[in-house]
Amino acid sequence: MRILAFETSCDDTAVAVTEAGHRVLGHATVSQAQSHSPYGGVVPELAARLHSLHWRSTVDLALQQASLPLEALDAVAVTAGPGLQTSLLIGTTAAAVIAQQLGVPLLPVHHIYGHILSNVCNRPPEEIVFPFLCLTVSGGHTQLHLVRSWRSIICLGTTLDDAAGECYDKTAKMLGLGYPGGPLVEQYAALGDPQAYALPTMLLESSSLDYSFSGLKGAIYRLVTALQVPGEPLPEQTKADICASLQHRMQTIFTTKVTRALERFPEVQQLHFVGGVSANKGLQAALQEGALHCGVPLLTPKKMLYCTDNAAMIGCSAHWRYLHEGLPLPATPTVQPLPRWELDKYL
Ligand code: KG4
Ligand code: ZN
Repeated sequence: MRILAFETSCDDTAVAVTEAGHRVLGHATVSQAQSHSPYGGVVPELAARLHSLHWRSTVDLALQQASLPLEALDAVAVTAGPGLQTSLLIGTTAAAVIAQQLGVPLLPVHHIYGHILSNVCNRPPEEIVFPFLCLTVSGGHTQLHLVRSWRSIICLGTTLDDAAGECYDKTAKMLGLGYPGGPLVEQYAALGDPQAYALPTMLLESSSLDYSFSGLKGAIYRLVTALQVPGEPLPEQTKADICASLQHRMQTIFTTKVTRALERFPEVQQLHFVGGVSANKGLQAALQEGALHCGVPLLTPKKMLYCTDNAAMIGCSAHWRYLHEGLPLPATPTVQPLPRWELDKYL
């Protein structure tokens, strides 16, 4: 079964052709990062306009890569939420148009479900061993799930305020590094001293698996304000030290929570780290060490592309949600965008 998948929940127009729930035959992305960069974050109206401009040519690019005509596809999958309302609207409308043109089923996919299963992209499915613990960290989400099977997913912890990715992005904005901030903070961190500034480590009460990042973000704001000399940019080394200190705190927070969860659920076979922030090599290394200590392997997406928002994870996860489970396929030819969709309601 081949699926044409769309992902337009935020600022990337992505289309993929996937097969059998793990083979990625083609993938094309039009990144909008440059267009949003001057604003230091995503401008929803601009994002929607760019999606509507680029979706059709992105489909052609993905099909070209897969060396397949549109008619060779058996279903269309699309991110229906959560995400930006107007961005989702473009993707769901585009997907509905193609599904109707081909006369094939249209499969709505939950964005976080896609991230949680993103390790299956380009990987033999038998390498995914249940139950696994999944840490999903992106620009909008920071969650820890216990994944018992393709459709039995329990949320163990979530952020009570900001997502970790947002903390990276806002730090980059405060330091004038650009957008998206995560990769830039990681680059600067490599040149800085992780012990330079004692930023708070928000661990909440001792049994909690939840997260909180607004205090950390606020502490960075106060630090930057205190170090700033009016009319002068911060020295590059100071920026690097702030980034390294943030990176160090993130490592402590994530390894502490993940180790806590692994000790609480000894039946867990693997640790998965997914979502845009999982592209961060320093965090990967810290989690690898924590997982090894608990005797489980760490799995991260096969390519950097599958960490950040992508359509391959949407096509692959649609396979496991709909086809593998033998559920009746949706008969409706349209998908309603659901900007605040909860994962429980999807499973
Ligand atoms: O999953 P994603 O592409 O989109 C959302 O669903 O939000 O995640 C984007 C987030 C952004 O906050 C970006 O700064 C962060 O992932 N990110 C990183 C890195 N690469 C992307 N954060 C830290 N280190 C990175 N290398
Ligand atoms: Zn995402």
